[in-house]
Amino acid sequence: MLNPWSDVNTSGYMFAGAPLGQTYCNLYCLSRIIDQHDLESCFELGTWYGALSTFLGLHLPTITADIKDQRDVHTIELHSRLGVEFRQADCHNHEVLKGIFADLKRPTLVFCDGIYKEREFLLLVPFLQPGDIIGVHDVGTEFRPDDPGVVSCISRSGLFPLESEEASCSMYWIKK
Ligand SMILES: C[S@@+](CC[C@H](N)C(=O)[O-])C[C@H]1O[C@@H](n2cnc3c(N)ncnc32)[C@H](O)[C@@H]1O
Repeated sequence: MLNPWSDVNTSGYMFAGAPLGQTYCNLYCLSRIIDQHDLESCFELGTWYGALSTFLGLHLPTITADIKDQRDVHTIELHSRLGVEFRQADCHNHEVLKGIFADLKRPTLVFCDGIYKEREFLLLVPFLQPGDIIGVHDVGTEFRPDDPGVVSCISRSGLFPLESEEASCSMYWIKK
């Protein structure tokens, strides 16, 4: 079988042999952000099949976390070669996030891509330090940037928007 994932319900985008929960446009946006900022690490909340983690691990030391491990052996092997660290954990738990952020070199790029993105965004932002960047996926569908809680969190936390392509379905902010 050419594509072992052909019966998995995905957007159809693949990267390094696994289904990718992003458009290629978002990979382009992420590359541009990584190229333009002096980042030391990356944290992805929501690994899924691990394709985006592989992409991030090609650029930066990466920690990726998910409540369950859905990676196949090929992706696990790739992650081990790239030094991508997978943590099976509930990222809605403050203590779990505290442990992860303690291990990230700063400045870091946080990519919020779990299941309740507004809630996750509100949980992640207090861990950010100046120079850190946070991105959130599925803007307009699973994440509403005009939600009053999100708006107030952005303004009181010193987050400034970064340029991004609308077609990427993601938004990015830098903490000043
Ligand atoms: C949209 S997928 C991530 C897609 C992936 N980032 C990519 O681009 O290929 C969302 C993931 O969040 C995970 N998730 C849901 N609740 C979670 C939680 N409480 N803690 C950690 N991960 C969670 C799900 O298991 C799922 O794999």
